[in-house]
Amino acid sequence: MSALRTVSSLLSILALQACSNASDQTAAVSQGVCEGLPPLAMKSTYRVGFAQLWEDNGPWRNANTASMQDEAAKRGYELVFDPGTKSDPAEQVDRMQALIDAKVDAIFLAPHDEAVLAPSVVAARKACIPTFIVDRAVNPAIAIPGTDYVSYLGSDFRLEGEQTADWLIAKTGGKAQIIELEGTVGSSPGVLRKQGFDERIKNTPGMKLLASESADFDETKAYAATLRLVPQYPTATVIYSHNDGMSFGVLTALQELGKVPGKDILIVSIDGTKKATQGILDGTIGEVTECNPKFGPIAFDTLENYAAGQPVPVVVKNVDRVFDLGNAADYLPEAF
Ligand code: AHR
Repeated sequence: MSALRTVSSLLSILALQACSNASDQTAAVSQGVCEGLPPLAMKSTYRVGFAQLWEDNGPWRNANTASMQDEAAKRGYELVFDPGTKSDPAEQVDRMQALIDAKVDAIFLAPHDEAVLAPSVVAARKACIPTFIVDRAVNPAIAIPGTDYVSYLGSDFRLEGEQTADWLIAKTGGKAQIIELEGTVGSSPGVLRKQGFDERIKNTPGMKLLASESADFDETKAYAATLRLVPQYPTATVIYSHNDGMSFGVLTALQELGKVPGKDILIVSIDGTKKATQGILDGTIGEVTECNPKFGPIAFDTLENYAAGQPVPVVVKNVDRVFDLGNAADYLPEAF
C-alpha cells in the first residue's frame, strides 16, 4: 500500500487498496502486444489522449474538460482531445480507437458506459498504451483494474446517493414522496447513485419512491420528465435529481406547472455547480451533494508517478461534501 507523492489540494485520496507499478510490467510484451500494464517512459513532455464522454454543455462536464486541458497546458503536454458529437458510447469507442491508432503515450478515458467502453481499454493495453480511467468506471470483469488500466480516479457515486438520502431523511423527518430522475442508463453514477439512495431509504417506511426513471443527465429531458411526472404523481414532495444540469430542467418545469420549488416540492441534487449552490441560497434547491470535477492535477500527477516507477493506487477516490443552507455561502466562491 502506498500513497501518491503529490496530491491536488482539491482532491483527497480515500482508499488505497492496491497499487499499479509500471516497472513490474516491463517483461510483459510479446510480439508487440502488452500482456500486462504497459510501461510508460519518463519524458519531459507527453502526448496524452483524452477520451471525454460527450454531454450537451453539461456544466460538470465542461468544468472537468477545462481542468484536464488546463493541467496539460500547465505541464507543457500535448492533449489530444476530440470532444465528440453525440451521447453515444459507440461513438466514444471510435474516438478511443483513433487515440490508439495515433499511438499516444497514454490515455485518460471518461467512459460513457461501463460495459461498452471496457473492450477499448483492453485494446489500448494490448497496443501498449497505459490507460487511466477518470470520472466514471468501466466494468472490471472486462477491463481488469491494475492489468488493463493503471488507475481509476473519481468520486464514490454510491456514497453520493447515500449522503443525499441521509440529508433528506434528516430534513423531512423520514417522510417523503419521491420522484427520482436518474442519470444515463448504464453509467456508473446513474447506477450507483440510485443504489446508494435506495439502500439508505429502504429501512425508513415513510420514504416512498413514487417513480424513478432516467433523464440521461440532460436538462431538456429532465424538464420534459418533470412536466409529465409531477401531474402524474400529485402527492410528490421531493425530486431527487442525479445531477445539477437535470435540476435546472426540473426548476423550469416546476415553475411552468405553477409549483414553488423549495416550498411545494423539495429538490435534492448532485454536483455543486455555482448555479445550484446559488439555488440553495435562494431557497429553490434544498441540498446538493458534491461531485468534484476538477481532477486534472491528480490525474497528471498519477501519470507522472506511474512513469517514475512509483506504485500508484488502483483506486483514487475524491472526498465529496454535502451543501445546504448551513454552508452553501462558504462554498459558493469555489463552486464551478
Ligand atoms: O460522471 C459524473 C457525472 O456526470 C456528474 O454528476 C454529471 O453532472 C455528469 O453528467
